[in-house]
Amino acid sequence: MGVMNRPSDDIGRGASSVRHTARARRAAQTLVDEVREGLARQPLRELPCKYFYDDRGSALFDEITRLPEYYPTRTEEALLAAHAGAIVAAVAPRELVELGSGAGRKVRFFLDAMRGRGRLERVQMLEISEGWLRASVEALQADYPEATIEGVVGDFVHDLEALGRGGERLMLFLAGTLGNLHPEAVPGFFRQAAAILEPGDGFLVGVDLVKDPARLHAAYNDAAGVTAQFNLNLLTVLNAQLGADFDLVGFEHVAFYDADAQWIEMRLRARRAMHVRLPGAGVELDLAAGEEIRTELSCKYTRESFERRVAGSGLRLESWFTDAESLFASALLRRE
Ligand code: SAH
Ligand code: AVI
Repeated sequence: MGVMNRPSDDIGRGASSVRHTARARRAAQTLVDEVREGLARQPLRELPCKYFYDDRGSALFDEITRLPEYYPTRTEEALLAAHAGAIVAAVAPRELVELGSGAGRKVRFFLDAMRGRGRLERVQMLEISEGWLRASVEALQADYPEATIEGVVGDFVHDLEALGRGGERLMLFLAGTLGNLHPEAVPGFFRQAAAILEPGDGFLVGVDLVKDPARLHAAYNDAAGVTAQFNLNLLTVLNAQLGADFDLVGFEHVAFYDADAQWIEMRLRARRAMHVRLPGAGVELDLAAGEEIRTELSCKYTRESFERRVAGSGLRLESWFTDAESLFASALLRRE
């Protein structure tokens, strides 16, 4: 398997404008705290999914987006190609903000539409994966020289304030990344999003929809095994960042759909009993054979369950765009 589009360490350094939030400057301590807390959970240990995304993890996600089984990316791109112009016309933004911008490709649908209206002034991209953020800020600045393109290394759960107050702002949260938040955290997330938007500002959210479980199962258990590598990369990150000694061949990728919770759950299952040391976190772990660690939730929504999570946040659903098979939706929220 080839990992494609990995940015070199130097791409983007210097010329592009990338800043760190206060929390991102404390990232090493945050990692220690979150890993300690997650691995101590019982009956099911857990690791935060945001730690998938070092340079290699971001490249693996980029590869996932091109897999035949992984329908969300191409479905959302078709929706954006069809509707970005109308969304930009409705919101009339001068500033575009993207949360979890990744490779920074989808944002171009909106930047082209804003340029077409002569109202493209500022772009801010909030992303935890610094190498990919730098590369995409650099590429966008070259292609949209009339705009100020800013990267913010930070966490969209904790750091929205770092984006400043809105006003003529369109904010994007694409890919179904909302689904990677626990559903109980979503109302609070929407309230925080509303707090950095002014009345009339727009928030476009990509929503992966409840569907045939077989289709979901295939999307998270691809034949080429890229999702398995993405999942295991979390252990590689902990080995590198915390000097841990997770033996990757000792774990297998598990992904299943829980129809009651309406989410995909990804786990790593120990193939045998293992003693694992994470000296950087001051943790030693005894895993039983067959024990699983939860690494990601990917929640699926219906229009109704999505609207229930938005209710009371200060945002209201204005438009709901979906494809012919109702695989994925683009939800345009407006700040009230
Ligand atoms: N928007 C892109 C990428 C989606 S993948 C697309 O549509 O293809 C999710 C992205 O969110 C990744 O780039 C990942 O690095 C980033 N991410 C995950 N958790 C994050 C967090 N808590 N804060 C900021 N970025 C995060
Ligand atoms: C980023 N996020 C929306 C992806 C998802 O589908 O939940 C991450 C991913 N996990 C496994 N494959 C892709």
